[in-house]
Amino acid sequence: MSRRLEGKVALVTGGASGIGRGCALRFAEEGASVLVADLNGERAEEVAAELTTIGAKADTVVVDTSSEASCEAMVRAAVAAFGRIDTCVAAAGISHAGYVSRPADEQVGVDRMDRDDLLVLDKSLASWQKVLEVNLTGVMLTDRLVARQMVAQGEGGTIVNIASMAAVVALPGSADYCVSKAGVWMLTKVLALELARHKIRVNAVGPGYIRTSMSGSSVSHQPWVDARLKETPLRRLGEPVDIANACLYLACDESSFVTGEILFPDGGLGAGTR
Ligand SMILES: NC(=O)c1ccc[n+]([C@@H]2O[C@H](COP(=O)([O-])OP(=O)(O)OC[C@H]3O[C@@H](n4cnc5c(N)ncnc54)[C@H](O)[C@@H]3O)[C@@H](O)[C@H]2O)c1
Repeated sequence: MSRRLEGKVALVTGGASGIGRGCALRFAEEGASVLVADLNGERAEEVAAELTTIGAKADTVVVDTSSEASCEAMVRAAVAAFGRIDTCVAAAGISHAGYVSRPADEQVGVDRMDRDDLLVLDKSLASWQKVLEVNLTGVMLTDRLVARQMVAQGEGGTIVNIASMAAVVALPGSADYCVSKAGVWMLTKVLALELARHKIRVNAVGPGYIRTSMSGSSVSHQPWVDARLKETPLRRLGEPVDIANACLYLACDESSFVTGEILFPDGGLGAGTR
């Protein structure tokens, strides 16, 4: 059987870590050339090196997806490296305004939900705006600049936005995050309608609790893990590859009649709450 993304070019934002890295690796295994785009250039280089060891073509670009000029440069870098873009995963994101993605051995433990200043009544406007800028505006900018390139190419394409189960499940203390992810889900549907005429499909993935840097500090806190496992019918945390496989399906031709949809790889967490 031929590989699902043979000869295709993939751009992955947030590709230096966690879910984005998982997508970069999985897409490369399926034959894609991958541009690893991330705020953290050093970790992006490490991922690109991993991709080349499995025989894939890979390149990197440093991007701040909340800046339009930076996203424009990212798309130019993809075209310079590989001549085109066929598929994009918009995975760059933050859990809260002060979040910094770190490798496993550098993670610091903070139980965020116990901090009153994270509730809407107390949250600073600057914190709220930062999360919306990265998680929602950043995805919109990524999507539209990639889509403009795809329209110019004239052969369609696929875009997968990483939302969250928090798009549909309210989490106290994380209003900014939940609203940003609900926005990503709605943005996905609007773009699917607007871009269908160009044969560009736009879908979203809403992960449950996944073992990455973002959940890293909590994963080392056993009461947090126990509570999450209790909520998750399949009784395990997800791994980045669980999300990458969902993204792969939406990126490749196997989903050719699917657009404007969201898939929730969440171990069944949402089945009882949505
Ligand atoms: N881990 C989870 O449990 C979980 C659950 C649901 C959704 N998500 C979403 O998955 C996506 C990936 O998160 P993750 O868990 O892999 O975390 P992660 O910290 O491992 O990866 C996030 C990556 O995004 C990059 N990034 C952050 N801000 C950026 C910016 N402005 N421009 C470019 N790159 C930027 C970081 O440098 C990092 O490499 C996020 O959108 C997150 O909200 C994660």
